Amino acid sequence: MSTSPKCNGMIRMSLNDFVVDALVHTPSYQHARLWTVENHEKYSTLAQPEPGPQSDHRFNHVIFLLMRALNEQGVGQEGLCADARGQGALKSVIGNVAERLAALGQGRRVHYVELGPEPIKSACLLKRMAETSSSIRYTAIDVYQTSEPAMSDAVRPIVQGDGSFNYIAADYRTVTHDDLRHDQELTLITLLGFQEGNELPVSTGRLIRSLAGETTYILSEMQVYEEGLEQPILGFYANPNMLQFSRMVALQQGFTPSGPHEAILLPLRILGESIHVAVTLQPVQRLHQQGYLLTNICLKYTPEQFRRIRAQHCNCSVMDEFASGDGSVRYQIAKYLQ
Ligand SMILES: C[S@@+](CC[C@H](N)C(=O)[O-])C[C@H]1O[C@@H](n2cnc3c(N)ncnc32)[C@H](O)[C@@H]1O
Repeated sequence: MSTSPKCNGMIRMSLNDFVVDALVHTPSYQHARLWTVENHEKYSTLAQPEPGPQSDHRFNHVIFLLMRALNEQGVGQEGLCADARGQGALKSVIGNVAERLAALGQGRRVHYVELGPEPIKSACLLKRMAETSSSIRYTAIDVYQTSEPAMSDAVRPIVQGDGSFNYIAADYRTVTHDDLRHDQELTLITLLGFQEGNELPVSTGRLIRSLAGETTYILSEMQVYEEGLEQPILGFYANPNMLQFSRMVALQQGFTPSGPHEAILLPLRILGESIHVAVTLQPVQRLHQQGYLLTNICLKYTPEQFRRIRAQHCNCSVMDEFASGDGSVRYQIAKYLQ
């Protein structure tokens, strides 16, 4: 459970704080008891300074498998996120991203660095990149250190050279570009699975600037918000895997879930601009108290914000974008400016 980090005597607001502040002004949740959990706490299996409910890792593996199932659906299901004529399903968009990355890495020594790794989409992108690059090295950075065997099984058959598979069990906010050894001709840092939505724009900026080196590209997958896209966003959180995810997070944090989660889209005011966020509120009970545990908080930038934030906070220039047929999911490739 979280408290706000202090910075030079000032209180620094976390994404959780912004959301709780907005919910206090939202009629249906105004008087409800709300509990929050920091994002990395849900996933982390790293040793904690003060063991809490999260030091029991029973639920982490289930959470990993739920994410994996979502990705399997993402690359496997015909027509997912397609337009009304069935064009632009996620599966075909990921194929186009893979083609673009393969062209970018053509003939070069490539280092693929994955923040918050997952085996399905990465295997698909890496397979195509391995066909054109002169060599390929892979590094996973994850707080969920038991994802290593799954990543190894998925990635080692693709990146076969000695020392080509690397796994760093750490909070990616503590890793720097020195740890990554930027000795390749091209580095690609990936934030897949709407990962970027879990961080404030300034935090993503700090993260990218501390990890990037020479010739570094960033690939990010975002579910974006525009008027008319509310349904695909809320539909994603109604997926049985996401409902199960919320129940697991509640149990992991020592609560008893008492019904399916509720998903809402809220406008937040962050650094003077309105940014939409999807929040899942899991009804829970603990010691005779009832309320909601906020199990997932994910920013949904507009396409314009997604582009601008990359330039404004991350010192990058956006090179390419790929959108699903329904416009709800975007892949952005940006180049880090030295
Ligand atoms: C939303 S999931 C996305 C997973 C994956 N990228 C995908 O496409 O499904 C978040 C992942 O990021 C990892 N993660 C979250 N916060 C992290 C942090 N601060 N440092 C390292 N890994 C983190 C978790 O272990 C989890 O695998």
